[in-house]
Amino acid sequence: MELPALRLLLLLLLSSGLTVSQEDILPHEPIKVLVGKDLSIQTLLSKPAFTFIIWNFNSNGEQTHVATLGPAGLNVNDPYKSRGVNITTDGHLTVKALTPADNGQYSINVVDSKGSTKTGEIDVKVIVSQRHFSTLTVTSVHRSDWSGLCSAPCPTHDDTEERPLQPHKPISGVKMTGPSGKLFAGNSSANLSCEAAKGSVTQVVWLKDGSALSSRAVVAADQRSVLIDPLQKEDNGEYTCTMSNAASKESAKVKLMVICERPEPVQITAESEVEVTDRVVLDCSAASVPPANYTWKFNGTKQPITTSQYVIEKAVYSNTGIYTCEAYNALTGKTSSKTHTISVKAEGELDEGLSDGAIAGIVIGVLAAVAVAIGLFFYCRQKVPVASPY
Ligand SMILES: *[C@@H]1O[C@H](CO)[C@@H](O)[C@H](O)[C@H]1NC(C)=O
Ligand SMILES: *[C@@H]1O[C@H](CO)[C@@H](O)[C@H](O)[C@H]1NC(C)=O
Ligand SMILES: *[C@@H]1O[C@H](CO)[C@@H](O)[C@H](O)[C@H]1NC(C)=O
Ligand SMILES: *[C@@H]1O[C@H](CO)[C@@H](O)[C@H](O)[C@H]1NC(C)=O
Ligand SMILES: *[C@@H]1O[C@H](CO)[C@@H](O)[C@H](O)[C@H]1NC(C)=O
Repeated sequence: MELPALRLLLLLLLSSGLTVSQEDILPHEPIKVLVGKDLSIQTLLSKPAFTFIIWNFNSNGEQTHVATLGPAGLNVNDPYKSRGVNITTDGHLTVKALTPADNGQYSINVVDSKGSTKTGEIDVKVIVSQRHFSTLTVTSVHRSDWSGLCSAPCPTHDDTEERPLQPHKPISGVKMTGPSGKLFAGNSSANLSCEAAKGSVTQVVWLKDGSALSSRAVVAADQRSVLIDPLQKEDNGEYTCTMSNAASKESAKVKLMVICERPEPVQITAESEVEVTDRVVLDCSAASVPPANYTWKFNGTKQPITTSQYVIEKAVYSNTGIYTCEAYNALTGKTSSKTHTISVKAEGELDEGLSDGAIAGIVIGVLAAVAVAIGLFFYCRQKVPVASPY
């Protein structure tokens, strides 16, 4: 690409008119690279549709263009011409032989043909090792950046990027282990750890349900494990670790299911008055983990329905009565229930629009649902200890 065009593009990116997506496209943990070793920043993108992929380097408030991959191929900015820079179509940036001056933030812009842009940033810490100087110096890295896991003085880190220079062996046999047994919100913890049977791992990326981990998750200094303590209900989900080196990457997954102790309140949403031949839907919801098993009763008699919805395709007069939804949480062994009364009226008996009473009922119902949701949220949050154990 011609340089003026590139400048214009960069200018466009700096102006705010473009849509910028908030999707995570880079891992959150900083990358640590020993001085002299190569930088390899993998994105979380897989075969993105793009017109341009632009990498910039930010240090001391100044931005330097590193390189752009565009329709005409790779364009490397002058200062980086002899640095072995490459960008793959996945956005993977490589820069050879880092110096302390390469310490800083790297940012990526992925621009598609409609001008919409995905952006991401990642910190790169260039580590000056013992072999080069008499004492271990960490260039602009504070000890607290390493990890929350070691409270005593952290062990010296000479482990980052130690192996390379020989060709990377492909990674295989990646396995993640997680906690076994029941996990209770507020009083259980999880240590997820990831291992590769073969290959030298240079980068580990952790994700939960495809996005960044929560801020309560602590990634170990060697990035091989993640500790969540205590677990909260929001920690439910699928965790992925992706181990990679320049030659390959492989992922492993583990699902965590965190149980919120309290029997979850049950709500039924349905109309109270319907006309004959109307379709009636009773919606029973219980914010339960694992999903509840539902049973329904009509006037006290069990019905052959096990879903959260009870549907009457065409109401008849004898459908008038009391409906009970019971939600059973198999893990906590708790059941909660709720009743709802429906009365079936003659056709045309109910007004076209909603009566004031019905509107008030809906408003109250919505408020009650919101109140229950808020109550549940705070209930689970309350159990968070005030002081962290570290
Ligand atoms: C850059 O990466 C692409 C895609 O992996 C590869 O085909 C190309 O050979 C690389 N270029 C250099 C100079 O390494
Ligand atoms: C965690 O909660 C469960 C359920 O209430 C309880 O049985 C268990 O004793 C609690 N464990 C601790 C360590 O508090
Ligand atoms: C988590 O598990 C891994 C592998 O078993 C272990 O190396 C690590 O020390 C554990 N972390 C904590 C905080 O227990
Ligand atoms: C609850 O539902 C699940 C999934 O439908 C089923 O496997 C399980 O047997 C049910 N448990 C009870 C107690 O009905
Ligand atoms: C169900 O109960 C309601 C209210 O008690 C009653 O009016 C209705 O007739 C009953 N319906 C049947 C089919 O038993």
